[in-house]
Amino acid sequence: MNMMINKRLIAAVKESKKYIAGNVICQWVSLAANIAMMAAIARMLQSLFVGDSEEGQIAVTAVIAAAAVVIRYICAVMSSRMGYLSAKAVKKTLREMIFRKLLRLGTSYKEQVNTSEVVQVAVEGVDQLETYFGAYLPQFFYAMLAPLTLFCVLSLVNFPSAIVLLICVPLIPVTIIGVQRWAKKLLAKYWWQYTALGDTFLENLQGLTTTKIYQADAFKHRQMNEQSEHFRRITMKVLTMQLNSITIMDLIAYGGAALGVILATTQFQAGRVDLAGCILIILLAADFFLPMRMLGSFFHIAMNGMAASDKIFRLLDLTEPVQKNEAVPEDCSIECKGLRFAYDADREILHGLDMSFPKGSFTALVGESGCGKSTIAALLMGRNKGYTGSITVGGISLCELSEASLMENFTYISHQSYLFKGTVRENLLMACPNAGEDTLWQVLEQVKLADFLRAEKGLDTVLNEKAGNLSGGQCQRLALARALLHDSPVYIFDEATSNIDVESENDIMAQIHALAKTRTVILISHRLVNVAGADKIYVLDQGCIAESGSHRELLAARGAYARLWNAQQELENYTKGGDVN
Ligand SMILES: Nc1ncnc2c1ncn2[C@@H]1O[C@H](COP(=O)(O)OP(=O)(O)OP(=O)(O)O)[C@@H](O)[C@H]1O
Ligand SMILES: [Mg+2]
Repeated sequence: MNMMINKRLIAAVKESKKYIAGNVICQWVSLAANIAMMAAIARMLQSLFVGDSEEGQIAVTAVIAAAAVVIRYICAVMSSRMGYLSAKAVKKTLREMIFRKLLRLGTSYKEQVNTSEVVQVAVEGVDQLETYFGAYLPQFFYAMLAPLTLFCVLSLVNFPSAIVLLICVPLIPVTIIGVQRWAKKLLAKYWWQYTALGDTFLENLQGLTTTKIYQADAFKHRQMNEQSEHFRRITMKVLTMQLNSITIMDLIAYGGAALGVILATTQFQAGRVDLAGCILIILLAADFFLPMRMLGSFFHIAMNGMAASDKIFRLLDLTEPVQKNEAVPEDCSIECKGLRFAYDADREILHGLDMSFPKGSFTALVGESGCGKSTIAALLMGRNKGYTGSITVGGISLCELSEASLMENFTYISHQSYLFKGTVRENLLMACPNAGEDTLWQVLEQVKLADFLRAEKGLDTVLNEKAGNLSGGQCQRLALARALLHDSPVYIFDEATSNIDVESENDIMAQIHALAKTRTVILISHRLVNVAGADKIYVLDQGCIAESGSHRELLAARGAYARLWNAQQELENYTKGGDVN
């Protein structure tokens, strides 16, 4: 029985218990009304047959039948209402639990679970549980209660028939359990295929333009066809399994009812039961089996829900970063000592870095693509966990800091900062809800976006999803404006101006340099002119610090930095020279 009821799930949604109980009571009352009606009809038929019917018996039977129908109708309405209420409670509770869990997992949730799985589990997974709570669970209890009730009633009429019918009923759950082991594996596979297909579909849809450019759509098409074919096969298997087990259950249910009819008539012939009793047994025999049979058909839907609930609990059981309460201290100097980090255990990306970013300093990280700059930024923002060595902020370990305080004090701007669908104003105000119009325009001026926006609808200019209707450079400017509004003591710029023309880039860099006078700024940039003004520059090479120092010191050292600087200078002079000619 343990396998058929997920106690943890029920415990998670305590509220649903009362609705389930209410639902069972409604169904039971309905059954009682039915028994009364059938008993009245059986008695009437007997009287008519024997010819001793009293006056008005037909009318009394009709009244009982009518009353029973009305009661059954009311019970049906109420029980579906209860089903609805419990389904509602389940959805609300579980979605809220998932939502809160994600909040607690924080920005590093992607290290443990992928986004499409979260979405599928929270939306469809929870929907699947609707039937589990709304229909399956009440039916589970009712399916045990109904045969017992009928047995009690019919044993007064004819014990042998009643006991045989009662004994046949458990054959249905036995089949269900038999099917379950197999079904569970199949359904787990089914869900896996389903999420995999969802993943591929989402990715292909997002990358459709790229796919078209490289004419790779035929390949992707084939890939998706293959996956859908797998999914179709597994779906068919699931349906076959369900149909087969339903057939078996039908055979048992109706076979059992037929057995009841045979028993009733033989008992009648043997004179062990009167005609009314015989008719009553015949009329009620099917009712012994129907609730169990119904349970069987809900069962497959419920199994789907159980598979989904496993996924939900897997999500809910993910280890959470322990919530730390330390706030970022006034002195927000950052120190990294012996910092090592790997995304995959067998490939270390950072090999023991010592770096310091004193409060109010302007530090730059440069180095070849893939040397680990963005990884460092992600570590500082608490997005990558599981590093060794230490990162401290004002002497407090980064892992002791609360995420909220970290986010309030550290602002991260990359070349792909997320802009939301909505207006420019909405996107800006999320950084500083109380900012006035003037302040907003001021930062837009700073990032050279004001002229463009004035020509549009100003702060009410509407952005599409991911600001698809702005150019790459405009997106970056807006993201920068938002970051400037955030007004935090620490800023990390990760190639924040990579899509912007050199002239505007210089203007924006001037803003960043001005910011660096009062704030801690960490700047990641490929263009060395941008970092030349930094107090200290760390030159990274494949996850190690190759050299560090001020621009002047590094040039004097004639190392990797100097070589790169000269190469870039040559290139820029060449372009400038080219312009003159
Ligand atoms: N999410 C990830 N999972 C696994 N490996 C990753 C992940 N992100 C980055 N890496 C690896 O870590 C290394 C450093 O990547 P990182 O993004 O830090 O480089 P970067 O210095 O910022 O490069 P760029 O200048 O091109 O932005 C790369 O070799 C990359 O393959
Ligand atoms: Mg990077």
